[in-house]
Amino acid sequence: MPAKRGRRYNVGMTLHIDQPAAFAPMMPRVVPPAPRPRAEQMRPIAFLRTLRRNPIETWTQAHFERPILTGRGLLGIGAVINHPPSIRRVLLDNAANYRKDALQKRVLAPGLHDGLLTAEGAVWRAQRRAIAPIFTPRIVHAFSAAMIRNAEALAERWGRIRPGRIVDVQKDMHRVTLDILGDTIFSTGIENDPETMLSAMSRFFQAVGTLDPADLLDFPDWVPRLSQRRSKPEVAYFEEAVNAIVDRRKALIVSGEEPPVDLLTLLLRASDPDTGTGLSNEEVRANIITFIGAGHETTANALTWSLFLLSLSPEWRERLAAEADRALDGPPEGVLDRLPETRAVIEEAMRLYPPVASLSREAIGPDDLCGRRIRKGALIIVAPYVLHRHRLLWRDPDSFDPGRFLPGARETIDRFAYLPFGVGPRVCIGAAFSLQEAAVVLATLMRRFVLTPVAGFPVEPVQRITLRPRDGMRLVLQHRGA
Ligand code: HEM
Repeated sequence: MPAKRGRRYNVGMTLHIDQPAAFAPMMPRVVPPAPRPRAEQMRPIAFLRTLRRNPIETWTQAHFERPILTGRGLLGIGAVINHPPSIRRVLLDNAANYRKDALQKRVLAPGLHDGLLTAEGAVWRAQRRAIAPIFTPRIVHAFSAAMIRNAEALAERWGRIRPGRIVDVQKDMHRVTLDILGDTIFSTGIENDPETMLSAMSRFFQAVGTLDPADLLDFPDWVPRLSQRRSKPEVAYFEEAVNAIVDRRKALIVSGEEPPVDLLTLLLRASDPDTGTGLSNEEVRANIITFIGAGHETTANALTWSLFLLSLSPEWRERLAAEADRALDGPPEGVLDRLPETRAVIEEAMRLYPPVASLSREAIGPDDLCGRRIRKGALIIVAPYVLHRHRLLWRDPDSFDPGRFLPGARETIDRFAYLPFGVGPRVCIGAAFSLQEAAVVLATLMRRFVLTPVAGFPVEPVQRITLRPRDGMRLVLQHRGA
């Protein structure tokens, strides 16, 4: 760990193993890297600078210890809530009183337009009703063959790498998840060169995911945003690529040929069951970009963190390899149900490193949360990164322990204390899709390979739009049983 950053991190390079009396004779504790919560709130300029560099470094001990913190900050009057009943109220029971806040929309809307993630009100409701039937278990199951095929292609590529070499795991997870989205959205894959698409996408997220000072300071919309100007070529690249694919598919449908059954055809055929209205051309395009934007980095990072955590735990590596030996050769449908331990590792990885580290809403009218008065216009933050490590909600919160998510233990977790996919009407529409995808990829890799840490390689979580390792993720690749 570089000394400068390491001072504020709770562990050294990667791993901190100790065995306090309470845990003996269980397995050694694995405490993976995370910023050490601050003793006190920062002053405004330092806060802004840190928020831009890495928002998860702004959290204080009080956030991890108290159910609610309210106050006036640079982002206005707000509340950070870690109180499950209040979270339930904001995101479910009284969700009509809370909308996505302006800052979030300013960051995401230029890239995602009015797709499902950023739309509001009647437009969102009609889209959600039309799109929900596309992500039913039956359709998601039908995508398992494409997921397995792409996971095996990656395993074949790794199989050709000499044992003991270092692999760039983050890059490979980005590639496999993009290939899977390509196959399931467009069937024929992303027709543009995947490398160009991948690097354009990564630059897009780098630019869009960095908070612009003009947004933070709530400057009016006409003030130019440097980050948006920088990401313009990437936005244009996506839009042109997607437009070309959508136009080709529409032409195919018009010609009377039977189109492939993939997310694009399903979107073009989707309609609001209440009104019978289909999605407009713009809505189809916006949602294709939204599926890639919302579904790619998130799943790639969930997988990257899962592989990293497994590199620290020989016990769980072995358990997953054995489970994959038993479960992978059955029929593609229902594969996730046959991989409970793999799923538990992914869920634990998303607890410690939630790909979406923070959710926010703006109160449309006043409310009461956890005994505090919430004013109209208040910014409400529900941060899965904090919630998932909260001292009042989790035992040994900073340790890697997938056992919490095994059947029997999982049912005891409060639904509103664990939110990698959000909850309520705006819950992630792709949750089942991405869990199945991540489980298939992880099991396929664990069956054939053993990954271990690279000595001296710094692993540091950084929040952009998603929570990712700052310097990528390099791990040593060994072939299992070799
Ligand atoms: C590990 C992977 C994923 C994670 C952690 C994740 C997380 C989330 C979260 C937390 C939300 C709620 C945001 C809020 O309430 O403000 C969300 C919404 C959404 N996600 Fe995901 N997501 C993942 C994968 C996917 C995939 C694969 C797709 C599509 C193929 C997708 C599409 C969406 C969409 C369209 C929404 C907006 C839903 C709405 O507002 O109605 N996500 N996601």
